[in-house]
Amino acid sequence: MKLIDSQTYLNLAKAFSAETQARTRYEFMEYGMRYNGYKTMAEIVDSIAYQEFNHARMFYTFLQKASDKPIKNIDIAGGFPFKEKWDILENLKFAADDEHVEAYEIYLPAAKVAREEGFEDIANLFELTAKVEMQHEAVFLELYNQMKNNTLYKKDHEVMWMCSGCGHMAMGKEAWETCPLCGAKQGTVCLKLDSLNQ
Ligand SMILES: [Fe+2]
Ligand SMILES: [Fe+2]
Repeated sequence: MKLIDSQTYLNLAKAFSAETQARTRYEFMEYGMRYNGYKTMAEIVDSIAYQEFNHARMFYTFLQKASDKPIKNIDIAGGFPFKEKWDILENLKFAADDEHVEAYEIYLPAAKVAREEGFEDIANLFELTAKVEMQHEAVFLELYNQMKNNTLYKKDHEVMWMCSGCGHMAMGKEAWETCPLCGAKQGTVCLKLDSLNQ
């Protein structure tokens, strides 16, 4: 079967659309986080947004290989989430949910189809991408839980806090409101996330 005649071809186009939209939504989130002073959280989300860009790039690369000529148009029907409002906490939960759906309900089934249609390399791409989305889900969920439970900068045991701005470090249950060395606000303190092995 030629890629251009396959279901996998359409799945690649849908995946490209999903990734580009996810990236944009995460840029929205990042913007809100920076605006509200959550600098290190914004940096984590920014790195996830960049990873979505690279997922989109990989899907696009395979689409381009489907035809020697430029692809004029690909008609796809698909549902995409538009539920995010400008609320950081809600958006973290929505992002975790979307990553879960993308990994388990879209990419893993798409990998199965690609394998059945004889596109082993694309099946592997969908599977490897699904694994990353599971990791993204874990990061968003952890950020959501810490923000909701007010434990982003406050723990029940002593930990080493570090200012991402100047590198100042100190042990304590709670991070400083203002960095004693550089004066940066609390949102500049590096976050402690098990999902990122920090
Ligand atoms: Fe992605
Ligand atoms: Fe993701």
